[in-house]
Amino acid sequence: MLNIILMGPPGAGKGTQAKKIIATYHIPHISTGDMFREAIAAKTPAGVLAQGYIEKGLLVPDDVTIDLVKERLAKDDCAKGFLLDGFPRTIPQAEALEKLTKEINRPISAVINITADKEVLVKRITGRRVCKECGAPFHIETLKPKVEGVCDYCGGELMQRKDDTLESLAVRLEAYENQTLPLVKFYEDKKLLHNIDGLIGLENVFKTVCDIFEEIK
Ligand code: AP5
Repeated sequence: MLNIILMGPPGAGKGTQAKKIIATYHIPHISTGDMFREAIAAKTPAGVLAQGYIEKGLLVPDDVTIDLVKERLAKDDCAKGFLLDGFPRTIPQAEALEKLTKEINRPISAVINITADKEVLVKRITGRRVCKECGAPFHIETLKPKVEGVCDYCGGELMQRKDDTLESLAVRLEAYENQTLPLVKFYEDKKLLHNIDGLIGLENVFKTVCDIFEEIK
């Protein structure tokens, strides 16, 4: 069963790989970042609360984030696997997820941790453009869309995310180091962790992901 967690610092390539994974393995993509951006656009109470945190680069409080994932993971389409992208991001979130996956009998089968150094992350984030409609990520140098400013997947308009500024990225990287990095040991201890060097190119990262999936399926 592919019950997968995709983790890594901002700009490691989680969203990029997630697009490729779901197209090949047909499992639901549960990105807490995307869920929050949708909630912000729809001005839901969770969205209104999350907006201030996200624009500053801070993590949204655990209780709000955990509730969002709890509701989503319990849905029927997750019975045959799921891809969690950007969750968990703190030890309390990981503990809550462990409890939840036990309750619904959908245990995590692997944690894919994509790594990259800070200099590369800064270039990727500041050059990233995303689709307004489907959230697909592109890059002004390394992953240009076929038609400038237009999404290859859905034809939506490309834009720069509000939290993709240098100022916000510095806060996001600090949050990653302080709050998310401890999860590497958490999942290593559970023998679920697979590290992938995010600098080996999009296709090579994806090939490594597929090799891991074939092993655990
Ligand atoms: P979220 O949307 O999850 O953002 P993030 O983790 O900061 O990750 P990014 O989307 O910035 O990067 P990515 O790894 O997906 O990289 P991408 O594939 O786009 O979260 C946003 C915010 O929501 C958080 O800051 C927080 O406030 C809140 N939030 C979300 N989840 C939360 C949680 N669990 N708890 C609390 N708060 C939460 O790639 C980046 C660029 O690099 C692209 O341009 C791409 O084309 C390029 N690229 C990717 N891979 C490669 C490669 N191999 N080679 C060359 N270029 C590449």
